[in-house]
Amino acid sequence: ARPLRLGIAGLGTVGASLARLIVDRTDIYAKRSGRAVEIAAVSARDRSKDRGVDISGFAWFDDPVELAAKADIDVFVELVGGSEGAAPDAVKAALNRGLPVVTANKALLAHHGVSLAKLAQRKNTTILFEAAVAGGIPIIKTLREALRGNAVSRVYGILNGTCNYMLTRMEKEGIAFEDCLKDAQRLGYAEADPTFDIGGFDAAHKLAILTSLAFGCEIDLESVFIEGISAVSNDDIAAAAELGYRIKLLAVAQRTESGIEQRVHPAMIPIASALAQIDGVTNAVAVDSDLLGSILLAGPGAGGKATASAVLSDILDLAAGTSIPTLGVAPASLQPYKRARMRAHEGGYYIRLT
Ligand code: NDP
Ligand code: HSE
Repeated sequence: ARPLRLGIAGLGTVGASLARLIVDRTDIYAKRSGRAVEIAAVSARDRSKDRGVDISGFAWFDDPVELAAKADIDVFVELVGGSEGAAPDAVKAALNRGLPVVTANKALLAHHGVSLAKLAQRKNTTILFEAAVAGGIPIIKTLREALRGNAVSRVYGILNGTCNYMLTRMEKEGIAFEDCLKDAQRLGYAEADPTFDIGGFDAAHKLAILTSLAFGCEIDLESVFIEGISAVSNDDIAAAAELGYRIKLLAVAQRTESGIEQRVHPAMIPIASALAQIDGVTNAVAVDSDLLGSILLAGPGAGGKATASAVLSDILDLAAGTSIPTLGVAPASLQPYKRARMRAHEGGYYIRLT
């Protein structure tokens, strides 16, 4: 078969890592998926920037939308970011051509997942997004594939690597909030606008996607209660530790009598619990379901290589022809969705982990 030709828009932390891996491991990936994967076209803002990979052999596009609309490619990989502007326009252009899209862009899916899913379905193609939630942790495939026979009652965990990295260093090294944030940015963990991280919005985007998959309903970002870590100080963290608690930014979606409740907020959790032990950029996602009981997946939640690992899993699924053809972010409302009303601090700053 002719190689699967990729168009990669965005050569930043994730895109450059991905490009390096595809170039370095071409032969291994061809053997594993039965079809070679090659980069045909790339796009970024600055053509002259060193990306740690030779891009001179790839077609260059200044504009991701033009790449998506015109390049001779089989798959469009969106690693630009953002829910407005170039990213959604490029994804729509690719879907309109019937091209499958692979993306790590949770903001895009949280805001436009439903309409993009409908477009993909109309064009008989798909959007794959393993990297959009919890970096390298394979939680999308776990929910869509491994847990398909279960009824999920709750999905929760630590979904933002930047915040967890900051809270860990604030506690263990006593470093100030702003300095921890600068380090997270330097390490490539933070969003282009880090307000999305510290304001809880990035975790909310991810939670809205997980809710859709776990409960079989359309993405509903508007009903997520969101409070970030901006107001958490080193003193708060020290006071919590004295009482035997650690402060984590938790994201929780659960079935309640009044509907599905979605919330993101800092929580004091007992130091002995598994989630309290999740340090640094690590993320963790717990799923409670009827057949399997409780599982906890933990691993790197941000960073170039970890995220590229998840993007690659989607690309290699497409190369091998094993990707699930439905998008999963809008599966024709499998269950009636009822929003639970959330009040600020409902449940307090404490979550019972039973
Ligand atoms: P970066 O900011 O590092 O990279 C963005 C890339 O897109 C850059 O190459 C930039 O070009 C290019 N770009 C941005 N705007 C435009 C534009 N208007 N036209 C053309 N090119 C543009 O982002 P990340 O790699 O960190 O993130 C990419 C996506 O992956 C985002 O959706 C993010 O949320 C998601 N993600 C990131 C993770 C991480 O750990 N970093 C983890 C999981 C998901 P140039 O380089 O020339 O400036
Ligand atoms: N900014 C995000 C985080 C990247 O820190 O978790 C991974 O989605």
